[in-house]
Amino acid sequence: MTLQAPKGTFDWLPPRSERALAVREALTGPARRAGYGYIETPVFEDTALFVRGVGESTDIVSKEMYTFEDKGGRSITLRPEGTASVVRAVLQHGLHNNGQLPVKLWYSGSQFRYERAQKGRYRHFWQVGAEALGSEDPALDAELILLAVDGYAALGLTGVRLLVNTLGDKVCRPVYRAALQDFLRGLDLDEATRARIEINPLRVLDDKRPEVQARLAGAPLVVDHLCEACKAYHEEVRSLLTAAGVAYTDDPRLVRGLDYYTRTTFEFVHDGLGSQSAVGGGGRYDGLSEMLGGPPLPSVGWALGVDRTVLAMEAEGLFGDESAEARVRVYGVPLGEEARRRMFLLVTELRRAGLAADMSFGGKGVKGAMKGADRSGAGYAVILGERDIAEGVAQVKDLASGDQTAVPLAEIVTMLKERLDK
Ligand code: HAM
Repeated sequence: MTLQAPKGTFDWLPPRSERALAVREALTGPARRAGYGYIETPVFEDTALFVRGVGESTDIVSKEMYTFEDKGGRSITLRPEGTASVVRAVLQHGLHNNGQLPVKLWYSGSQFRYERAQKGRYRHFWQVGAEALGSEDPALDAELILLAVDGYAALGLTGVRLLVNTLGDKVCRPVYRAALQDFLRGLDLDEATRARIEINPLRVLDDKRPEVQARLAGAPLVVDHLCEACKAYHEEVRSLLTAAGVAYTDDPRLVRGLDYYTRTTFEFVHDGLGSQSAVGGGGRYDGLSEMLGGPPLPSVGWALGVDRTVLAMEAEGLFGDESAEARVRVYGVPLGEEARRRMFLLVTELRRAGLAADMSFGGKGVKGAMKGADRSGAGYAVILGERDIAEGVAQVKDLASGDQTAVPLAEIVTMLKERLDK
């Protein structure tokens, strides 16, 4: 049997792969126009970065990381997310000391999580992200949310809903956590869940099992335990969103799967995706820099799932012919050895002149080569036979109308450029 891609992974193949490119481009466009610079970090990092950054008790760190020892005996992990790496890079290069805060960065790349594979949930997936580091300002939280909203809108998506919550800060979160633990300890829960109450009680709120959700009905909510500063901050974020015309739903039970969040958290969901409905998410992470040994650097950001956004667009029937842009416009049909050499040079010249061009390879006869021309979607075929070479011309065939004319070889590039640039 031939080898297959590993479980939970898939290949983006043309023409559908064009959709992934288009989504990455559109989702990051608003951030690129808002002062965010491009950052690329390694696909793998020291394991300690994610253990400390994402949090030991999260599912990501405790169950889902691709961790291995390299040949030098270091513990290495394929990145499960981008935020910890971005903060690590900012601290390592002192970008926060360059005199201007916030440091605004965007990224795009593969992420790896050993999750149970299903539609919309993969072990290798693609995110785009944006992070703004070093500012505690509700306008920055609102800015990031808006950039994502505008990204989805640029794609024409209408079914993306925004859920917003706050998780409090180091003043009020511990008080809330204790109140939640008190409540949870009084419930009849299985052993694993009881253990989670002691390590990460907020995650219990996120339990998807209906029987657990039923018991959680009267659980204390963080909104009822916010300190004055967090309350005022959250009100301002919400009010800025409203002023900008962004529709959102308050979701007091929104708990994110990473431990670094403080205050604002949000998620974008789409109902056309089944159970893996989150197309993007993010929030504020004021303590992450210190968790990684840096100075206080209050920050906020998001990551949007490219794979799920493509699925959401397919669910809304939004894709047209996105391969059109990449399509070949001219197709060379050489008939014979000498014609192949000439065609090779002509196609090179067409490409250098800015026209997407391809040609028939493998010494096909006229029938097979013309089939290739039709399949390529090109508007014109340039057919070159022995007699044409002798006469210094090629046959330029308009593939839509079938009209064919002999054109001097020296004039072909100019002529096709004129016709196709129209
Ligand atoms: P996250 O919620 O873990 O957040 O991931 C963000 C998005 O990545 C999800 O909403 C989803 O669309 C996509 N995603 C996650 N896991 C998978 C998977 N297994 N298969 C396909 N898509 C997936 C973060 O990663 C944070 N770093 C976001 C952030 C940035 N917070 C602050 N700054």
